[in-house]
Amino acid sequence: MNIREAIEDDRQGVMRVAKSLSPRWFDNIAIGTSIPRDLSVHRTHVAKEGGRTVGFIVHTTVDDKADIKWIGVEPGFQRKGIGSELYAVVEDELRGVGVGEVRVETVAELTEYEPYERTRAFYEKMGFHVEKVKRTRSEETSEEFYMATYLKVLPRM
Ligand SMILES: CC(C)(COP(=O)(O)OP(=O)(O)OC[C@H]1O[C@@H](n2cnc3c(N)ncnc32)[C@H](O)[C@@H]1OP(=O)(O)O)[C@@H](O)C(=O)NCCC(=O)NCCS
Repeated sequence: MNIREAIEDDRQGVMRVAKSLSPRWFDNIAIGTSIPRDLSVHRTHVAKEGGRTVGFIVHTTVDDKADIKWIGVEPGFQRKGIGSELYAVVEDELRGVGVGEVRVETVAELTEYEPYERTRAFYEKMGFHVEKVKRTRSEETSEEFYMATYLKVLPRM
């Protein structure tokens, strides 16, 4: 498995992985609008397995703070360490340029929804902790749910 920064030709493969995670994790707005937009404006890394894109991570940085916008690993390739490797590549880079805080938003534990249990377990394993929780409403279904902001403070190099 190889992890590298995405190039324009990876876009289709990234969207194929994103679609493989819909609707359980990514809704129609994410697939149709938010992910394609973010791929154009934020940095993306891909995990390639024999030429096939099997995972991706999109992040953005402002001053010394970074946000993970999206991360996804194709269902058949999950729990093999690919998500960890993708995150580690990005975190190494962020540490190298002096970023001190990484945040990511995800569905909070207060909202009972099984698919996101593994997402939270993943972020916790990566060293994130819940910073705050807010109640919000899905643009797509108008359903109310809770979103958690997870924070990881990076040690200064
Ligand atoms: C979150 C995600 C990217 C993790 O990628 P992955 O390649 O499966 O993760 P890894 O194999 O690197 O797992 C690292 C650790 O995360 C935790 N974890 C991952 N999957 C888990 C699962 N199904 N159940 C419990 N813990 C899990 C474990 O602690 C695991 O370490 P271990 O295998 O040594 O126990 C992947 O599950 C995914 O694509 N989820 C759907 C999309 C998503 O939730 N994106 C984020 C939206 S905010």
